[in-house]
Amino acid sequence: MKKLLAIILGCILTGGFLSLPTLADTGGLSSLRGTTDLDSVPNAEEMKRVPKDRIAIERDYLHQPPVIPHQVRGYNVNLKGHKCLSCHSWKNYKKAGATKISLTHFDTRDGQQLSDVSPSRYFCDQCHVTQADAKPLVKSDFKSVDALTH
Ligand code: HEC
Ligand code: HEC
Repeated sequence: MKKLLAIILGCILTGGFLSLPTLADTGGLSSLRGTTDLDSVPNAEEMKRVPKDRIAIERDYLHQPPVIPHQVRGYNVNLKGHKCLSCHSWKNYKKAGATKISLTHFDTRDGQQLSDVSPSRYFCDQCHVTQADAKPLVKSDFKSVDALTH
């Protein structure tokens, strides 16, 4: 009985391993990165041109992180400084004419309110992105919610 079990287990294991696709193989499927195998580096996309600074861009749904209506090249965010907060913090927003960061940005993920920006919101471009006049990657018929459009 033990021997039989070992043989069955052996078959399952080797069979399983043999039929696993390797990481490198896209199986001929095309994704947003094309058909380049996963272990080779595809050609880089051309850099998109981010439009010059302009006023805030309309939001499409409630709780949307507003998109960034200006360029951010060279705006460093690291241990020593935070360029975004030099204009968007509650201390500096008036002087800079910028929107102040949302009250929600002071909350930790457990809902505790801090006296400064929560570490979970430190890297703004995790959620806020600049805009470029680019071809959509996939078709979408998404419509903005009525309450937010003019
Ligand atoms: C030199 C000042 C300055 C810096 C630095 C700056 N911003 Fe801004 N930001 C502005 C101003 C001014 C506006 C436009 C406000 C308006 O016209 O409503 C703006 C708008 C925005 C908005 C849109 C707000 C809304 O209500 O729609 C976002 C999001 C934003 N910035 C994110 C960032 C991020 C992220 C960084 C850092 C990578 C950054 N900003 C750095 C000045 C700045
Ligand atoms: C985890 C995602 C996330 C991160 C990180 C984040 N934000 Fe936001 N932000 C949001 C969302 C979602 C909203 C809209 C809902 C809200 O107010 O919470 C928002 C709103 C804002 C607004 C508009 C506030 C208003 O009153 O309309 C500004 C300005 C802003 N964020 C700036 C920043 C800056 C600057 C940073 C970096 C210090 C940052 N955000 C980091 C998700 C994020």
